[in-house]
Amino acid sequence: MRVPLLDLSEQYRALAEPIHEAIEAVLASRRFILGPQVKAFEKAISDYSNTPHAIGVSSGTDALLVILMALGIGRGDAVITTPYAFFATGACIARVGAKPIFVDIDPDTYNISASALQKYLEKNCRTDSSGDLTTPDGEKVRAILPAHLFGLCCEMNAIQKISERYQLHVIEDAAQAIGAEYRFGGKIAKAGTMGKAGALSFYPSKNLGAAGDAGMIICSDDELATKVRILREHGMELRYYHRVIGGNFRLDEMQAAILSVKLPHLDNWSAARRAAADFYRAEFMRTGLTEKITLPAEPYRGRGLPNHHIYHQYVIRTPRRDVLREHLARREIETAIYYPLGLHEQKCFAYLGYKKGDFQETERAAGEAFALPIYPEISREAQRYVVDAIVEFFE
Ligand SMILES: Cc1ncc(COP(=O)(O)O)c(C=O)c1O
Repeated sequence: MRVPLLDLSEQYRALAEPIHEAIEAVLASRRFILGPQVKAFEKAISDYSNTPHAIGVSSGTDALLVILMALGIGRGDAVITTPYAFFATGACIARVGAKPIFVDIDPDTYNISASALQKYLEKNCRTDSSGDLTTPDGEKVRAILPAHLFGLCCEMNAIQKISERYQLHVIEDAAQAIGAEYRFGGKIAKAGTMGKAGALSFYPSKNLGAAGDAGMIICSDDELATKVRILREHGMELRYYHRVIGGNFRLDEMQAAILSVKLPHLDNWSAARRAAADFYRAEFMRTGLTEKITLPAEPYRGRGLPNHHIYHQYVIRTPRRDVLREHLARREIETAIYYPLGLHEQKCFAYLGYKKGDFQETERAAGEAFALPIYPEISREAQRYVVDAIVEFFE
């Protein structure tokens, strides 16, 4: 049996008709740029996220970039983030001219560790005479950028407390976590709505995927939302008059129309992913594999949060990862490594001066963790085949 990591064909088959109708309608309308489809999808995401502003942009990467630009973060500033994430998480900070500062992850959740963050700030940063929090190299620390990896929210209550103590913005990278819920100060909040602003990605393989690149910025701050809207269109408020330098960061009508068709199904898809994750867990327990592999942590289960995890990826770990993956590949089971190298070890960030050994949990995860096939329509038969192949490997 061939088991792909992700198979979008069934989702497409089920929605082909309304998607084609939506595309036809855009073509017939001849409105391709920031028209009614983008507006309607922004409203739908704002309702879904229960947050006042949702601004469609060209990708999750651009969502992060525009948030940083709108907050005026740039040269001389620093932003603290995780070294265990997709490249864009750290790269956006560098692209606006600020310095990415990494702190290690919690090995159970793979998310940035709030205690490592607190320790970094206590040990390394000082408040200068003008009240700014500065790094040992003199950069002004402006924000914390946690990424909710694999569909699980970071410890946002702790991160929020730290951000208040040090007066830092929190920018959430919710690219992998649309709809994931967290008990934030007692209330149920969705990923991306707990900080100053959140970035969503609709990259095709995401839980809510476009037919190309697309993203969204969500926030509750009116002033920030206005800045984001201006930056998204070359910094124009009045056509062809530019007070600030922005870019072309627009979400296009076609993607918005397709995403509007898909959004009403998102929670069902996430529930189906969770059911698949439950099935993996039950099978791994039944076969005694939990002695050999570490399953994904579910720290928020049982707290009245339906979407306590949205399982964008189902990530397990073992020190024997690479040979296990080869074995699974021979059985035609596709797996993937997110991510093989911490951002602190990427060549392009060599100028930051980090070295191997600086973030041990990240490095261990980069050497041990990998993703098994998961998607809403995955069959129990396919999952059993995956589990059997892992059992066979350890036998
Ligand atoms: C954690 C994380 N951040 C940012 C991004 C960037 O999103 P996009 O691919 O839409 O630019 C992604 C997705 O690819 C991601 O997984």
